[in-house]
Amino acid sequence: MKKAYVKSYGCQMNAYDAARMADVLGAEGYAPTDSVADADVVVLNTCHIREKAAEKVYSELGRLRVLKTERRARGLDTRIVVAGCVAQAEGAEIQARQPAVDVVVGPQSYHRLPDLLARSRERRVVDTEFPVEDKFDHLPRRRTLGPAAFLTVQEGCDKFCAFCVVPYTRGAEVSRSVLAVLAEAEKLAQGGVREVTLIGQNVNAYHGAGADGAPVGLADLVRAVSKIPGIARIRYTTSHPNDFDDALIRAHAEVPALMPYLHLPVQSGSDRILAAMNRKHTGDQYRRLIDRVRAVRPDIALSSDFIVGFPGEADADFADTLRLVRDVGFESAFSFKYSPRPGTPAADRGDQVPEPVMAARLAELQTLLDGQRHAYQRAAQGRVFDVLVEKPGRHPGQVAGKTPHLLAVQFDAAPHHIGTVVPVRITEAGTNSLFGELVSEAAAA
Ligand code: SAH
Ligand code: SF4
Ligand code: F3S
Repeated sequence: MKKAYVKSYGCQMNAYDAARMADVLGAEGYAPTDSVADADVVVLNTCHIREKAAEKVYSELGRLRVLKTERRARGLDTRIVVAGCVAQAEGAEIQARQPAVDVVVGPQSYHRLPDLLARSRERRVVDTEFPVEDKFDHLPRRRTLGPAAFLTVQEGCDKFCAFCVVPYTRGAEVSRSVLAVLAEAEKLAQGGVREVTLIGQNVNAYHGAGADGAPVGLADLVRAVSKIPGIARIRYTTSHPNDFDDALIRAHAEVPALMPYLHLPVQSGSDRILAAMNRKHTGDQYRRLIDRVRAVRPDIALSSDFIVGFPGEADADFADTLRLVRDVGFESAFSFKYSPRPGTPAADRGDQVPEPVMAARLAELQTLLDGQRHAYQRAAQGRVFDVLVEKPGRHPGQVAGKTPHLLAVQFDAAPHHIGTVVPVRITEAGTNSLFGELVSEAAAA
């Protein structure tokens, strides 16, 4: 049987796309493999968000070229596909830099992979169109489902933050219809999925057409998904502070399946930098929004993204970021050094922050955020949480799952618990994971 190796380098949407490409190849008779050396088709689903992410692909491609030559010597063909946001941004340049690449395909046209692979036997192909047809209408049934799955509901971005490539690589904001989302969610539920994460670059800007054609917001979409039999948990990511409406806040109070976890990137705590980033909100507006969410859902776990060293960021601006982190308190967060991206407005600014300054700021911010994360994990000790069991644990006899607040937990239990929600008492907080013990239903009540 032919084999396909598909690797995701990027965000949740990139992971979702990678899974769907595996579905497309699966429908063509390719079995998934984790071993790149055995693969007849290798798909690298690339990310363009920071320079490091984008450059990683070229070193990987260098290794693949060697592999391809070795396999050819054994009479085996290897098709190399570069997909994702680097493919969209660089197109044919990729093949100029690495001729071993057979197919370059963007995030909106990967449903055409079988055709592109066939054509690549004649000559190398590039497809970075935003096609008129909707890829979602041309994707096969989803395979390889675990208890938790992503579901893309919205793509693209119209926000144009000054540092970000996403509006260029993913195009304008488009929402899938409510019907299309519900149909996919129902199939997921039938396939054993208990938790769906609705994903979009700006998921709370969702405005898909409802049954009567009128636009429906994310809050009502969440309510509709929560009614699907089998769906026990709903999450959504990533949202933007400016698209957060009262309806979504109310949903956090009223929809039990909507998990008490919110990833809400703020990027900086400095109003001057936020304005330069084109984020269109202030640090205090972010604080007030968090207050409103916490008023209805006091136990909500907060997560965020931060960029240090945006052009022009002074010590005082960075101090404002630290202050915001202390004021809000995060369960977890991602923080990055600013990376100038070709074609974005901030990349051309003359006041780039020197690398050592960025490195020092990142270290200081991460120390603060790590401290908050550890405090959050320690506070979980002794408490009982509902855990969705997702997979076998690291050690035999163990399983692994997530709390409503998205904390990873390992505990002793039989594998038949996978796919169920069980009460677990947290006994110990490790560095990246919690350890716990299964509680009998009666004891948890
Ligand atoms: N749509 C989401 C984020 C998408 S990108 C939002 O609007 O928040 C994920 C994260 O990558 C961003 O939140 C940001 O923190 C980071 N990021 C984006 N561009 C970057 C750049 N040029 N340099 C460093 N980090 C960047
Ligand atoms: Fe990028 Fe800003 Fe759009 Fe998020 S909102 S994807 S950071 S441009
Ligand atoms: Fe990366 Fe594209 Fe996602 S640039 S973060 S894979 S939208």
